[in-house]
Amino acid sequence: MEYKITTNSEYETIEIAQNIESEKFPNMVICLNGELGSGKTMFVKGIANALGIDEVITSPTFNIIKEYDGELPLYHLDVYRLDSAKDDIGIEEYFTKGGVVVIEWADNIKDILPEERLDIKIKVLGENKRSLVFTPYGQKYEELCEAVL
Ligand SMILES: Nc1ncnc2c1ncn2[C@@H]1O[C@H](COP(=O)(O)OP(=O)(O)OP(=O)(O)O)[C@@H](O)[C@H]1O
Ligand SMILES: [Mg+2]
Repeated sequence: MEYKITTNSEYETIEIAQNIESEKFPNMVICLNGELGSGKTMFVKGIANALGIDEVITSPTFNIIKEYDGELPLYHLDVYRLDSAKDDIGIEEYFTKGGVVVIEWADNIKDILPEERLDIKIKVLGENKRSLVFTPYGQKYEELCEAVL
C-alpha cells in the first residue's frame, strides 16, 4: 500500500511530518529518499517539532548522525556519503535505542535497514511543489499511515 501526498510549500511538508505522531512511537524508523533539495531535512524539522525539539535542524552530512533531546530522542542520520557494504559505523544500534530514527538518503544503506519501517520518497514537482510517497512496512507502520495520512 502506498500513500501519495502533494505539498505546495515547505510548511505543508513540515506539517505532514508533525502529523506522523513520532512522539508516540519509540524505535520508529523513517527512511527518506529524494534528490538534493527535495525536502528531506524539512521533513525532519516536522518530526523534531512533534518531539518538542526547538533546536535548528540541519543536514548532518559531515558527521552522519546528530542526536537531539526531545520527548523521545531524535537520531537524525544523513548517509549521503556512506556505502553500507564498506562503512559499518554501528548504525543498526540506533534502531533499538528507544528514540525516533530519521535517515536521509536511506537507500544508500538499504541492506542494513530494519524490515519494519516507513519509507518516504520525495519528488520535486515545481519550485514549491513536492510529491511525498509513503510506503509502510509492517503492521504498526501500516496502521499509522492509515490513521494519519
Ligand atoms: N513543498 C516543499 N516541501 C519541502 N521543501 C520545499 C517545498 N517547497 C520548497 N521547498 C524548499 O526546498 C528546499 C528543501 O531543502 P532540504 O534541505 O529539506 O532538502 P534535502 O532533501 O534535505 O536536501 P539534501 O539532500 O541536500 O540534504 C528548502 O529550501 C525548502 O524551502
Ligand atoms: Mg537534507
